[in-house]
Amino acid sequence: MQPLTFITLGRKSEALKEIRDALVSSARARLLTDYNDPDQLLADVIRLRPSAVIVVLDGDNPEREFALIKQLAAACPETAIINAAYNASPALILGSMRSGAREFLQLPINADEFKTVLDRTQEFIATVASKRNGRIVAAFSGKGGSGVSFFATNLAAAMTVPTVLVDLNLQTGDAASFLGLEPKYSIADFVRNRTRLDDSLINSLLTPHSSHLSLLAAPLEAHEAEDVRPEHITEVLHLLGQRFQCLVLDLQHTFDPVTVAALDLADDILVLMTLDIPGIRNTKRALKVFERLGYPHTKFRVVVNRWSKNIDVKLQKVEAHLDEQLIGLVPNDYGKVMNSINLGRPLVQTDPASKITLEIKRIAGMVENSDDTVSPHPRKGLLGSMFGRHRSTGPLDLSAMPDPV
Ligand SMILES: Nc1ncnc2c1ncn2[C@@H]1O[C@H](COP(=O)(O)OP(=O)(O)O)[C@@H](O)[C@H]1O
Ligand SMILES: [Mg+2]
Repeated sequence: MQPLTFITLGRKSEALKEIRDALVSSARARLLTDYNDPDQLLADVIRLRPSAVIVVLDGDNPEREFALIKQLAAACPETAIINAAYNASPALILGSMRSGAREFLQLPINADEFKTVLDRTQEFIATVASKRNGRIVAAFSGKGGSGVSFFATNLAAAMTVPTVLVDLNLQTGDAASFLGLEPKYSIADFVRNRTRLDDSLINSLLTPHSSHLSLLAAPLEAHEAEDVRPEHITEVLHLLGQRFQCLVLDLQHTFDPVTVAALDLADDILVLMTLDIPGIRNTKRALKVFERLGYPHTKFRVVVNRWSKNIDVKLQKVEAHLDEQLIGLVPNDYGKVMNSINLGRPLVQTDPASKITLEIKRIAGMVENSDDTVSPHPRKGLLGSMFGRHRSTGPLDLSAMPDPV
């Protein structure tokens, strides 16, 4: 079982020390970090997605903490909020529950009481995990022009389960044109209406492509991109993840806050790489950023795009340089790809026999066939669970591949 992860916030070191000691001495809890300044807290909770945040109410005016808890509850519905205080008046407890806290921990800590709070947090996390059934697969590259949008649209079109393609290139999105769609609404409308979204409103904001693929388009006007903030991304993906089995994200090539919010939430990140020096260098850089962001190794995988036997690069050497297995090789075929993009018709649908189609469908199959019973933790990478890093042959048996030299 995964340990419960905690972040704490409080000014009085006495309370924090007591909570820290209790967490450290429990085998099923891990303290990720503690704060005495609330300003950084929200961003870090969104990024780290702990099981719970413990907020110590130790000021004269709890309204400030209540406002923060409301924000936390809205932005991170998957995180349990627990308040703790030495002087727990009924008004304080009521106020904290109304702002969105799930539990109240009376200080000084009583061992039985603390165990109950851990039990209830565990139950909450289990319920959240069972509700969140959508796989989030992010297509990313550290360098523009690597084929992220082409790959993401075709991967989404190759899925056989209900799927939404989310175009997160907020200023320059072209997923709609790759799919031959003319959306009326976009993610900006989704964000504007976020407090009143229900199934029918959500469906009306998506643009249907086929019976199992819809698009959540990038803003139709570039200036609307400013209205979409990182905390909205968390909310949007959460709402869609509850309703669709798979979300495919077409991401920008930078580590801006919106992109990082999306990467944080992804179960799998497929990093598209072209086999040229800038492509390999940017991939290496991106993998280092993922490590610094604290992502488990099973979460990200490298897919070569525009692969050709004529490229004078040894795949084994690239793998050794990146310290990563390459899990896919999407062939280079400029004519077919340009034609499909210009016509707005995914290649996986118009040319089922092409090598590009076969490879993208193979990758789509890995994504779809990953089983929750194999990978019970929602954060666990599906590709990782199927093809462990330490297996000698991955999904691609390099020894069986023709040497591209
Ligand atoms: N497998 C491929 N073979 C040939 N050309 C490709 C392939 N994948 C992408 N391209 C070309 O690369 C260009 C950039 O693709 P795009 O998906 O827009 O990249 P990104 O979203 O990473 O910027 C496209 O014009 C397309 O023609
Ligand atoms: Mg793109």
